[in-house]
Amino acid sequence: TQLCWWLWQVFCCLTPFLFCVILTPQMIYRFLSFDHFRDKLVPPSPVGAKPGPTPLTESPELQALLQLLQWPAPPENAAAFASSTSAEKSHYRLLQSQSNYTVGNMLLVSLEARDQSGQPKHYGGDFLRAKLHSPELKASVAGTVEDHNNGTYTLTFPLLWAGAAQVSVRLIHSSETVALLRRIRDSHPSTVTFRGYFVDPGQGSKEEVTECNVHPVSGPTCQYVDPGTGERWFCARPQHHSCNDLVYHSTGIYKNVLSSAEKVFLTTSPPLPCHPGLALTNPSGFYYKDVWVSLGCSSRTFPTSDLALGCLRGKIVHMIGDSTLRQWWEFLLAFIPCKSLGKNCSGPLLAVEPAQGLVLRWRAHGIPLRTAKSKMADMHYLANELDALGGGPDMVVVFTLWAHFTTFPVDVYVRRVHGIRQAVAQLLARSPQTTVVIKSANTGFKSVYGSDWLSLQLDNILRAMFAGMKVAIVDAWAMTSCHYLPGNIHPGKVIVQNEVNAFLSYVCPGK
Ligand SMILES: *[C@@H]1O[C@H](CO)[C@@H](O)[C@H](O)[C@H]1NC(C)=O
Ligand SMILES: *[C@@H]1O[C@H](CO)[C@@H](O)[C@H](O)[C@H]1NC(C)=O
Ligand SMILES: *[C@@H]1O[C@H](CO)[C@@H](O)[C@H](O)[C@H]1NC(C)=O
Repeated sequence: TQLCWWLWQVFCCLTPFLFCVILTPQMIYRFLSFDHFRDKLVPPSPVGAKPGPTPLTESPELQALLQLLQWPAPPENAAAFASSTSAEKSHYRLLQSQSNYTVGNMLLVSLEARDQSGQPKHYGGDFLRAKLHSPELKASVAGTVEDHNNGTYTLTFPLLWAGAAQVSVRLIHSSETVALLRRIRDSHPSTVTFRGYFVDPGQGSKEEVTECNVHPVSGPTCQYVDPGTGERWFCARPQHHSCNDLVYHSTGIYKNVLSSAEKVFLTTSPPLPCHPGLALTNPSGFYYKDVWVSLGCSSRTFPTSDLALGCLRGKIVHMIGDSTLRQWWEFLLAFIPCKSLGKNCSGPLLAVEPAQGLVLRWRAHGIPLRTAKSKMADMHYLANELDALGGGPDMVVVFTLWAHFTTFPVDVYVRRVHGIRQAVAQLLARSPQTTVVIKSANTGFKSVYGSDWLSLQLDNILRAMFAGMKVAIVDAWAMTSCHYLPGNIHPGKVIVQNEVNAFLSYVCPGK
């Protein structure tokens, strides 16, 4: 009977979350290392012990077993963490992708390993674990991983039950980490020690504790040979007891065997906190249940006014831009809430939350500005505003500028942004702790005076001109262009809230 197989293909933007790195050292299965037997083995005591077996190192069985442990090693020059495989940067895709699969068939997946900077790897040896599973059915099967030794892997899963299923792949260790584990294992007789407790109950003397292990420890040693199996055990010889007084056993210490450069390989890096200067990924994030999740850093949400106010406590926030940034201002005023002084339109506007010492200011970025009749003297050029700020750790500057420039040749915009960039650079030079955030353009224009195409041109210029500077970019373009709400240059509240959350994630990146 042919049952239908529905395969649920995971959206590409969710893929990185299916990779996760498990790096608890205790979880690493330690194969027995026979190397140290070669030189340090004390001959077994002939008295009371069985005749010793053929030395293992010479046995054909050991040689055969060691063959089983063959694992590709990275090239010698690939010891830097940057060249190690990154779970986040690696990709996989279904081979012979179909909409329907049949129970009894195999599902093939091709995985391409990439390094920390996203470059494809050209050698194998990554330790991957794959499974196909249906969480709703509580069904799962392990997949087989074939290493092609060129940075690609083929994962094979048998299709054994009917229903939606998903592929999950974990990078347990990069090939570089495997090489490190192997080197540590093979160059240290053991990385943990044990304790032997020597007691002489008859004499009531003090207990003595020494180090024990499967191999002789340094200095005078007590050797114990199990009469039944011939297995050996060694402890440092106690000073006031005889070897026969060994009564108790316990675990000892975990030796510090990694240099700090090596520790990086065995540390799970939590997602980076959001910080100015971080380059945006492409895509920079995605919506899930109406919440924007950044793919470049661990974006936070501020669902309650207490959380938002907690983030902004003691801050002086200068918001300089157009009506799309005034939406942030209006959102914060209603959400926190603060007391607002000043009138609407091109500002300047001031709001305060006196209990927590929050000051919010909003003003327009200066002419050209398509606005109602306003005082010329109130319209300050953005660069001049920045020049007038001392900056500091409590100061946050967020600006946007594009919507009122779509009606001119681009050099007008470039000249304006050039001056603003210079002002930002000087602000960050005199006060490096100032937080500077740029709200990118958003979508929603559709006329000859403002079209998304014209906006995108300016937005590309803005991003390019601030690339590499210690400023944060809130990707309002992505956040407005993929949302289900109909396009509107003044997006709906749910989008504005996500934009503000992204902004606050830079102001308060968390731990
Ligand atoms: C999958 O197979 C079922 C049963 O044969 C069929 O009804 C369905 O239309 C197929 N779906 C697709 C997308 O081919
Ligand atoms: C890697 O090796 C496999 C198997 O030999 C081959 O099919 C694939 O094209 C190779 N990929 C690259 C990138 O060399
Ligand atoms: C300011 O604008 C908002 C929305 O744009 C409006 O709700 C509010 O009443 C205006 N306030 C004043 C003082 O005009």
